[in-house]
Amino acid sequence: MELFFKMPSKEAREAMCDASLELGNRFMGNEYKKNAEDAIKKVTGHEHARVMGSGNAAIMAAMSTMKGPVMIPDQGGWSGFRKIAEFYGLELTYLSTKMGVIHLETLEEQVKLKSPESLFITSFAGYMAEQPVKGIYDICEDNGVILVEDASGSVGDPLKNLACGDHSHVMVASTGSPKIVNVGNGGFISTNEPGIFNNAGFILKTLQSSPVTCAGLVEEIKKTPGNLVKTIAACEFLKKEIEYVLHPEKRGINIAIPHDEPKSIARLLRNNLKVMGGGMITVCPRYDRINQPAVCLEVKNLDIECLKKENLRKIVEIVKNTI
Ligand SMILES: Cc1ncc(COP(=O)(O)O)c(C=O)c1O
Repeated sequence: MELFFKMPSKEAREAMCDASLELGNRFMGNEYKKNAEDAIKKVTGHEHARVMGSGNAAIMAAMSTMKGPVMIPDQGGWSGFRKIAEFYGLELTYLSTKMGVIHLETLEEQVKLKSPESLFITSFAGYMAEQPVKGIYDICEDNGVILVEDASGSVGDPLKNLACGDHSHVMVASTGSPKIVNVGNGGFISTNEPGIFNNAGFILKTLQSSPVTCAGLVEEIKKTPGNLVKTIAACEFLKKEIEYVLHPEKRGINIAIPHDEPKSIARLLRNNLKVMGGGMITVCPRYDRINQPAVCLEVKNLDIECLKKENLRKIVEIVKNTI
Protein backbone atom coordinates (compact mmCIF):
# COMPACT_ATOMS: atom_id res chain seq x y z
CA MET A 1 0.00 0.00 0.00
CA GLU A 2 1.32 3.45 -0.89
CA LEU A 3 -0.13 6.47 0.85
CA PHE A 4 0.46 9.99 -0.47
CA PHE A 5 0.12 13.33 1.27
CA LYS A 6 -2.46 15.56 -0.39
CA MET A 7 -1.13 17.96 -3.07
CA PRO A 8 -2.96 20.78 -4.82
CA SER A 9 -4.57 19.41 -7.99
CA LYS A 10 -2.74 19.56 -11.32
CA GLU A 11 -5.32 22.09 -12.55
CA ALA A 12 -4.69 24.33 -9.54
CA ARG A 13 -0.92 24.15 -9.95
CA GLU A 14 -1.17 24.93 -13.66
CA ALA A 15 -3.47 27.88 -13.00
CA MET A 16 -0.99 29.13 -10.39
CA CYS A 17 1.90 28.83 -12.84
CA ASP A 18 -0.04 30.83 -15.43
CA ALA A 19 -0.96 33.47 -12.84
CA SER A 20 2.65 33.81 -11.74
CA LEU A 21 3.54 34.87 -15.30
CA GLU A 22 1.03 37.71 -14.95
CA LEU A 23 2.44 39.09 -11.68
CA GLY A 24 2.59 42.85 -11.94
CA ASN A 25 -0.29 43.01 -14.41
CA ARG A 26 -2.81 44.91 -12.33
CA PHE A 27 -5.79 44.17 -14.58
CA MET A 28 -5.16 40.41 -14.53
CA GLY A 29 -4.43 40.50 -10.79
CA ASN A 30 -7.86 42.03 -10.18
CA GLU A 31 -9.48 39.42 -12.44
CA TYR A 32 -7.92 36.52 -10.46
CA LYS A 33 -9.04 38.15 -7.23
CA LYS A 34 -12.59 38.74 -8.46
CA ASN A 35 -12.93 35.18 -9.81
CA ALA A 36 -11.74 33.75 -6.49
CA GLU A 37 -14.13 35.94 -4.51
CA ASP A 38 -17.00 34.86 -6.78
CA ALA A 39 -16.08 31.19 -6.26
CA ILE A 40 -16.07 31.67 -2.47
CA LYS A 41 -19.42 33.48 -2.56
CA LYS A 42 -20.89 30.62 -4.58
CA VAL A 43 -19.65 27.85 -2.29
CA THR A 44 -20.46 29.61 1.01
CA GLY A 45 -23.66 31.38 -0.05
CA HIS A 46 -22.29 34.60 1.53
CA GLU A 47 -22.52 37.93 -0.30
CA HIS A 48 -19.07 39.26 0.58
CA ALA A 49 -15.75 37.42 0.38
CA ARG A 50 -12.01 38.14 0.47
CA VAL A 51 -9.06 35.88 -0.19
CA MET A 52 -6.48 36.13 2.57
CA GLY A 53 -2.81 35.19 2.96
CA SER A 54 -3.67 32.34 5.37
CA GLY A 55 -6.41 30.92 7.56
CA ASN A 56 -4.99 32.74 10.58
CA ALA A 57 -4.99 35.99 8.59
CA ALA A 58 -8.74 35.48 8.04
CA ILE A 59 -9.22 34.92 11.79
CA MET A 60 -7.14 38.06 12.51
CA ALA A 61 -9.37 40.04 10.15
CA ALA A 62 -12.54 38.71 11.80
CA MET A 63 -11.28 39.46 15.35
CA SER A 64 -9.98 42.90 14.38
CA THR A 65 -13.57 44.16 14.40
CA MET A 66 -14.30 42.80 17.90
CA LYS A 67 -14.01 44.13 21.42
CA GLY A 68 -14.58 40.76 23.17
CA PRO A 69 -15.24 38.65 25.13
CA VAL A 70 -14.55 35.88 22.61
CA MET A 71 -16.05 32.47 23.44
CA ILE A 72 -14.30 29.32 22.18
CA PRO A 73 -14.83 25.60 22.83
CA ASP A 74 -12.80 24.07 25.69
CA GLN A 75 -11.30 21.56 23.21
CA GLY A 76 -11.54 20.60 19.55
CA GLY A 77 -11.23 24.24 18.36
CA TRP A 78 -8.25 25.89 16.64
CA SER A 79 -5.32 27.16 18.74
CA GLY A 80 -5.15 30.25 16.51
CA PHE A 81 -8.44 31.47 18.07
CA ARG A 82 -6.73 31.69 21.44
CA LYS A 83 -3.44 33.13 20.16
CA ILE A 84 -5.10 35.82 18.05
CA ALA A 85 -7.54 36.82 20.82
CA GLU A 86 -4.49 37.18 23.12
CA PHE A 87 -2.67 39.19 20.43
CA TYR A 88 -5.56 41.68 20.34
CA GLY A 89 -5.89 41.64 24.13
CA LEU A 90 -9.44 40.31 23.92
CA GLU A 91 -10.95 38.52 26.88
CA LEU A 92 -11.38 34.78 26.25
CA THR A 93 -14.07 32.59 27.70
CA TYR A 94 -14.32 28.83 27.35
CA LEU A 95 -17.40 26.80 26.53
CA SER A 96 -17.51 23.29 27.98
CA THR A 97 -18.17 20.61 25.38
CA LYS A 98 -18.67 16.87 25.12
CA MET A 99 -15.29 15.87 23.71
CA GLY A 100 -15.29 19.00 21.54
CA VAL A 101 -18.91 18.83 20.46
CA ILE A 102 -21.09 21.69 21.64
CA HIS A 103 -24.25 20.86 23.57
CA LEU A 104 -26.96 23.34 22.66
CA GLU A 105 -28.41 23.57 26.18
CA THR A 106 -24.94 24.30 27.60
CA LEU A 107 -24.33 26.92 24.93
CA GLU A 108 -27.61 28.70 25.65
CA GLU A 109 -26.90 28.72 29.37
CA GLN A 110 -23.26 29.89 28.97
CA VAL A 111 -24.10 32.59 26.43
CA LYS A 112 -26.70 34.04 28.81
CA LEU A 113 -24.30 33.83 31.74
CA LYS A 114 -21.13 35.17 30.06
CA SER A 115 -22.55 37.45 27.32
CA PRO A 116 -19.75 36.94 24.79
CA GLU A 117 -19.59 39.20 21.75
CA SER A 118 -18.60 36.30 19.49
CA LEU A 119 -18.29 32.53 19.37
CA PHE A 120 -15.48 31.00 17.29
CA ILE A 121 -15.88 27.33 16.38
CA THR A 122 -14.53 24.88 13.83
CA SER A 123 -17.19 23.09 11.74
CA PHE A 124 -15.82 19.74 12.92
CA ALA A 125 -14.76 19.49 16.57
CA GLY A 126 -11.07 18.52 16.27
CA TYR A 127 -11.79 17.59 12.62
CA MET A 128 -13.43 14.47 14.10
CA ALA A 129 -17.08 15.25 14.76
CA GLU A 130 -19.46 17.68 13.14
CA GLN A 131 -20.83 20.50 15.25
CA PRO A 132 -24.58 21.17 15.25
CA VAL A 133 -23.87 24.45 13.46
CA LYS A 134 -27.47 25.36 12.59
CA GLY A 135 -28.58 25.00 16.25
CA ILE A 136 -25.50 26.93 17.41
CA TYR A 137 -26.27 29.71 14.94
CA ASP A 138 -29.90 29.99 16.11
CA ILE A 139 -28.79 30.42 19.73
CA CYS A 140 -26.12 32.98 18.71
CA GLU A 141 -28.61 34.89 16.56
CA ASP A 142 -31.20 35.01 19.37
CA ASN A 143 -28.60 36.26 21.87
CA GLY A 144 -26.76 38.81 19.70
CA VAL A 145 -23.57 36.72 19.49
CA ILE A 146 -21.51 36.76 16.27
CA LEU A 147 -20.91 33.16 15.16
CA VAL A 148 -17.60 32.73 13.34
CA GLU A 149 -17.30 29.29 11.75
CA ASP A 150 -13.83 28.09 10.79
CA ALA A 151 -14.73 25.94 7.80
CA SER A 152 -11.18 24.82 6.93
CA GLY A 153 -12.36 21.19 7.08
CA SER A 154 -15.85 21.51 5.64
CA VAL A 155 -16.04 23.89 2.67
CA GLY A 156 -18.43 22.46 0.08
CA ASP A 157 -20.49 20.29 2.47
CA PRO A 158 -23.24 18.99 0.15
CA LEU A 159 -25.60 18.53 3.15
CA LYS A 160 -25.19 22.25 3.88
CA ASN A 161 -25.01 21.50 7.60
CA LEU A 162 -21.51 22.98 7.68
CA ALA A 163 -19.87 25.91 5.85
CA CYS A 164 -23.29 27.24 4.88
CA GLY A 165 -23.64 31.02 4.83
CA ASP A 166 -27.28 30.80 5.98
CA HIS A 167 -26.11 29.80 9.42
CA SER A 168 -22.79 31.49 10.09
CA HIS A 169 -22.37 35.24 10.50
CA VAL A 170 -18.75 35.03 9.40
CA MET A 171 -16.91 32.14 7.79
CA VAL A 172 -13.14 31.81 7.82
CA ALA A 173 -11.04 29.03 6.30
CA SER A 174 -7.49 28.05 5.60
CA THR A 175 -6.73 26.89 2.08
CA GLY A 176 -3.19 25.90 3.11
CA SER A 177 -1.79 22.39 3.09
CA PRO A 178 -3.41 19.93 3.71
CA LYS A 179 -6.93 21.30 3.70
CA ILE A 180 -10.22 20.58 1.98
CA VAL A 181 -9.67 23.54 -0.38
CA ASN A 182 -6.06 22.47 -0.87
CA VAL A 183 -4.31 25.37 -2.61
CA GLY A 184 -1.10 24.99 -0.58
CA ASN A 185 -1.42 28.43 1.01
CA GLY A 186 -3.95 31.18 1.63
CA GLY A 187 -7.36 31.36 3.22
CA PHE A 188 -10.59 33.27 3.01
CA ILE A 189 -13.21 35.18 4.96
CA SER A 190 -16.85 35.60 3.95
CA THR A 191 -19.97 37.16 5.45
CA ASN A 192 -23.34 38.70 4.70
CA GLU A 193 -22.65 41.62 7.04
CA PRO A 194 -21.08 44.48 5.04
CA GLY A 195 -20.18 46.31 8.29
CA ILE A 196 -17.54 43.72 9.15
CA PHE A 197 -15.67 44.30 5.90
CA ASN A 198 -15.97 48.06 6.20
CA ASN A 199 -14.45 48.02 9.68
CA ALA A 200 -11.69 45.55 8.75
CA GLY A 201 -10.74 47.29 5.48
CA PHE A 202 -7.11 48.00 6.39
CA ILE A 203 -6.33 44.54 7.75
CA LEU A 204 -8.13 42.84 4.84
CA LYS A 205 -5.78 44.65 2.46
CA THR A 206 -2.69 44.18 4.63
CA LEU A 207 -3.21 40.42 4.96
CA GLN A 208 -4.55 39.80 1.47
CA SER A 209 -3.38 36.88 -0.66
CA SER A 210 -1.50 36.98 -3.95
CA PRO A 211 -3.20 36.65 -7.38
CA VAL A 212 -1.37 33.30 -7.68
CA THR A 213 -3.24 31.92 -4.66
CA CYS A 214 -6.50 33.34 -6.06
CA ALA A 215 -5.95 31.50 -9.36
CA GLY A 216 -5.27 28.21 -7.54
CA LEU A 217 -8.28 28.65 -5.28
CA VAL A 218 -10.66 28.97 -8.25
CA GLU A 219 -9.56 25.53 -9.49
CA GLU A 220 -9.30 23.78 -6.11
CA ILE A 221 -12.69 24.92 -4.90
CA LYS A 222 -14.35 23.06 -7.80
CA LYS A 223 -13.01 19.79 -6.40
CA THR A 224 -13.95 20.48 -2.81
CA PRO A 225 -17.41 18.86 -2.50
CA GLY A 226 -16.19 15.60 -4.08
CA ASN A 227 -13.04 15.51 -1.94
CA LEU A 228 -15.01 16.20 1.23
CA VAL A 229 -17.61 13.49 0.54
CA LYS A 230 -14.89 10.89 -0.15
CA THR A 231 -12.91 11.85 2.96
CA ILE A 232 -16.02 11.66 5.17
CA ALA A 233 -16.98 8.29 3.63
CA ALA A 234 -13.45 6.91 4.26
CA CYS A 235 -13.67 8.04 7.90
CA GLU A 236 -17.11 6.47 8.29
CA PHE A 237 -15.70 3.15 7.05
CA LEU A 238 -12.65 3.36 9.34
CA LYS A 239 -14.75 4.33 12.35
CA LYS A 240 -16.99 1.29 11.86
CA GLU A 241 -14.10 -1.12 11.39
CA ILE A 242 -11.77 0.17 14.11
CA GLU A 243 -14.65 0.36 16.62
CA TYR A 244 -12.93 1.93 19.70
CA VAL A 245 -12.87 5.47 18.26
CA LEU A 246 -14.25 8.73 19.65
CA HIS A 247 -17.50 10.05 18.14
CA PRO A 248 -18.23 6.86 16.16
CA GLU A 249 -21.57 8.10 14.84
CA LYS A 250 -20.58 11.60 13.77
CA ARG A 251 -19.30 12.77 10.40
CA GLY A 252 -15.64 13.76 10.46
CA ILE A 253 -12.45 13.88 8.44
CA ASN A 254 -10.09 12.25 10.94
CA ILE A 255 -10.29 9.46 13.51
CA ALA A 256 -9.38 9.79 17.19
CA ILE A 257 -8.42 6.63 19.05
CA PRO A 258 -8.07 6.99 22.83
CA HIS A 259 -4.92 5.37 24.22
CA ASP A 260 -2.96 5.58 27.49
CA GLU A 261 0.42 5.65 25.70
CA PRO A 262 -0.26 7.93 22.74
CA LYS A 263 3.39 8.90 22.11
CA SER A 264 4.71 5.37 21.76
CA ILE A 265 1.67 4.24 19.76
CA ALA A 266 2.07 7.25 17.45
CA ARG A 267 5.72 6.29 16.87
CA LEU A 268 4.70 2.76 15.90
CA LEU A 269 1.86 3.99 13.70
CA ARG A 270 4.19 6.44 11.91
CA ASN A 271 6.53 3.54 11.13
CA ASN A 272 3.76 1.27 9.94
CA LEU A 273 1.66 3.87 8.10
CA LYS A 274 4.21 5.70 5.97
CA VAL A 275 2.87 8.64 3.98
CA MET A 276 4.94 9.95 1.07
CA GLY A 277 5.40 13.70 1.41
CA GLY A 278 4.00 14.13 4.92
CA GLY A 279 2.34 12.42 7.85
CA MET A 280 -1.09 11.39 9.15
CA ILE A 281 -0.66 10.88 12.91
CA THR A 282 -1.25 13.45 15.65
CA VAL A 283 -0.77 12.95 19.35
CA CYS A 284 -3.26 14.17 21.94
CA PRO A 285 -4.03 15.76 24.41
CA ARG A 286 -4.02 18.81 22.15
CA TYR A 287 -6.44 21.76 22.07
CA ASP A 288 -6.94 21.46 18.30
CA ARG A 289 -8.16 17.87 18.65
CA ILE A 290 -9.11 16.43 22.05
CA ASN A 291 -8.02 17.03 25.66
CA GLN A 292 -7.30 13.41 26.47
CA PRO A 293 -4.55 10.91 25.60
CA ALA A 294 -5.27 9.67 22.08
CA VAL A 295 -3.80 9.30 18.61
CA CYS A 296 -5.52 10.74 15.55
CA LEU A 297 -5.41 9.29 12.05
CA GLU A 298 -5.52 12.40 9.87
CA VAL A 299 -7.38 10.91 6.93
CA LYS A 300 -7.88 14.47 5.65
CA ASN A 301 -4.13 14.65 4.92
CA LEU A 302 -4.27 11.85 2.35
CA ASP A 303 -4.60 12.19 -1.39
CA ILE A 304 -8.17 11.25 -2.36
CA GLU A 305 -6.85 8.55 -4.72
CA CYS A 306 -5.42 6.72 -1.67
CA LEU A 307 -8.83 6.34 -0.04
CA LYS A 308 -9.70 3.14 -1.90
CA LYS A 309 -11.39 0.31 0.05
CA GLU A 310 -8.32 -1.94 -0.23
CA ASN A 311 -6.13 0.75 1.36
CA LEU A 312 -8.69 1.48 4.04
CA ARG A 313 -8.85 -2.24 4.92
CA LYS A 314 -5.06 -2.29 5.13
CA ILE A 315 -5.08 0.78 7.41
CA VAL A 316 -7.60 -0.98 9.69
CA GLU A 317 -5.38 -4.07 9.82
CA ILE A 318 -2.29 -2.00 10.66
CA VAL A 319 -4.11 -0.03 13.35
CA LYS A 320 -5.57 -3.18 14.92
CA ASN A 321 -2.16 -4.88 14.92
CA THR A 322 -0.42 -1.81 16.38
CA ILE A 323 -2.80 -0.76 19.13
C1 LIG B 1 -9.01 24.60 11.66
C2 LIG B 1 -7.86 25.47 11.25
N1 LIG B 1 -8.05 26.80 11.18
C3 LIG B 1 -7.05 27.64 10.82
C4 LIG B 1 -5.79 27.16 10.52
C5 LIG B 1 -4.70 28.12 10.18
O1 LIG B 1 -4.49 28.11 8.84
P1 LIG B 1 -3.16 28.77 8.19
O2 LIG B 1 -2.06 27.79 8.44
O3 LIG B 1 -3.54 28.88 6.75
O4 LIG B 1 -2.96 30.07 8.85
C6 LIG B 1 -5.56 25.77 10.57
C7 LIG B 1 -4.23 25.25 10.22
O5 LIG B 1 -3.92 24.08 10.31
C8 LIG B 1 -6.61 24.91 10.96
O6 LIG B 1 -6.43 23.57 11.07
